[in-house]
Amino acid sequence: MTREDFHQYSITWGAQNFIEALAEKQSSLMRRKIDLNGEIVVTCGGTEAMMTVANPGDKVIVFSPFYENYGADAILSGAEPIYVPLYPPEFNFNADELEAAFKQRLKALILCNPSNPCGKVFTYDELKLIANFAEKYDTFVITDEVYEHIVYEPHRHIYFASLPGMWERTISCSSLSKTYSITGWRLGYIIAPPHIIDVAKKVHDFLTVGAAAPLQEAAVTGLRFGDDYYKWLQDKYTRKRNLFLKGLDDLGIVHTTPQGAYYVLLDISEFGFDSDLKFCEALARDVGVGAVPGSSFFREPVNHLIRLHFAKKDETLNEALNRLEGLRRKITPK
Ligand SMILES: Cc1ncc(COP(=O)(O)O)c(C=O)c1O
Repeated sequence: MTREDFHQYSITWGAQNFIEALAEKQSSLMRRKIDLNGEIVVTCGGTEAMMTVANPGDKVIVFSPFYENYGADAILSGAEPIYVPLYPPEFNFNADELEAAFKQRLKALILCNPSNPCGKVFTYDELKLIANFAEKYDTFVITDEVYEHIVYEPHRHIYFASLPGMWERTISCSSLSKTYSITGWRLGYIIAPPHIIDVAKKVHDFLTVGAAAPLQEAAVTGLRFGDDYYKWLQDKYTRKRNLFLKGLDDLGIVHTTPQGAYYVLLDISEFGFDSDLKFCEALARDVGVGAVPGSSFFREPVNHLIRLHFAKKDETLNEALNRLEGLRRKITPK
């Protein structure tokens, strides 16, 4: 690719070959013909896509636990997050609490589906309920679907934009980072109706100008992969999930069972730490396993969970499980 002539700026909203391939792939998944000229902006990762769409003063619903960038994205764009809890262990929301949040003259709801960190894949009924509220309270839904292809049987990813009446209200954000294991390439995108894309194009033009031209050209190969690739990806992560969760079960460690994405939350209540941060420090220092304190994802005072991920080679996962053996002996509050 680098020997060919793709070294100058591409079209700001996305290189022609890239958006053609992306429009074709997403049109079939999202069940509508996406107009490559008016309904797509290519961004520098899903992270930029999320930042492009909120305005100062806007109130946006964020489910808690949430992907930690949403807090910073909201602050940077001057929006005010309104948190609605997802209750462990199933991470269901309460419809009355959600409606109360919608009533606060809301601009948008951010929907991370499948969810990082809790691995929730929203069901059709849950999405339909959100769609009804979006209609009733005239609200946008900003989706973060970066794990759209990492979903475990029997769960299914449903594109929110594909729900009846929701295309006009949905700002679909996603990226190639997780689907093609290329997080360093920084290729993401927004798919939305033209009047939203027009605004997103302006922000994108002044924020980052454009995604890397040679990487867009190279990524076309991935965007044109057939269904067998996505099946292979799903099988790969299903195997890793099974390996890691079985290992945790064998060690008697209480954990969540993700329906999608590749994160697992471990319940550390039994270890007697008053801080999940201190637990993670001790885990890294005394056991050699890195984890993220769950409190960084929750608005509520939750500090009995830590997050691990299993997007690693099998040897690494097995080594982590070896290190976690005898955890109760190795790790004690000082
Ligand atoms: C839920 C979620 N959204 C977005 C991102 C970032 O995606 P990108 O690499 O495309 O910026 C991540 C990365 O971990 C994520 O977990």
